[in-house]
Amino acid sequence: MLDYKGIYYKTHSEVYEPAEDTFLLAENLQVERKHKVLEIGTGTGIVAITVSRQCRTVVATDINPHAIKCATHNIINNKAYNVEIKEGDLFEPVSDEKFDLIIFNTPYLPTSEDERVDDELETAWDGGDDGRKVIDRFLDELIDYLNPEGRVQLVQSSLSDIDKTLDKLGKIGFNASVTACQKHFFEEIVIITGTLEDSS
Ligand SMILES: C[S@@+](CC[C@H](N)C(=O)[O-])C[C@H]1O[C@@H](n2cnc3c(N)ncnc32)[C@H](O)[C@@H]1O
Repeated sequence: MLDYKGIYYKTHSEVYEPAEDTFLLAENLQVERKHKVLEIGTGTGIVAITVSRQCRTVVATDINPHAIKCATHNIINNKAYNVEIKEGDLFEPVSDEKFDLIIFNTPYLPTSEDERVDDELETAWDGGDDGRKVIDRFLDELIDYLNPEGRVQLVQSSLSDIDKTLDKLGKIGFNASVTACQKHFFEEIVIITGTLEDSS
């Protein structure tokens, strides 16, 4: 069993093992007690468990069935009773719901055809040729799942065009900026936070 700030969790060989990007998100959440939160791509579930201690309810999803099994175990083990877990692609498992905060540590690494390996763990980091394959699909659908004045927080790398994400969020009505940044040897990992501006 591993321990992250009092959350005891197990991993699985086909599930993304919590790393610096996981902890950066967990430590920079902009969540309120009244929030209904969606975490897409929950992996082991430790961000969902962390946020569940600071908000009303959480729905945690993943496309990887091993992640669903692993996160379910960790959620039950940590008595995070306000977390519901659902399997599926992006917003498909929550197609009729709206949230106050949506969080996603995205698969953000640019990955060429010859770097690709065909297993479920690959979905954790494979962002396609430009690193934006999943990020862009996520941004295109996001607005339909947020309440008025809702918020998004996503993790990505400087290798997958941070300005493009900020630009896209701005165009669909968010006030967005980089709210946390971690420098590595060959890239920066950032949290981008966007809040929907009041249109009334
Ligand atoms: C970088 S990992 C983050 C895992 C975990 N949230 C963390 O921070 O440790 C990205 C996660 O997103 C999931 N994922 C990738 N594409 C997805 C999609 N289209 N829909 C839902 N989940 C997806 C992966 O299976 C993986 O668990």
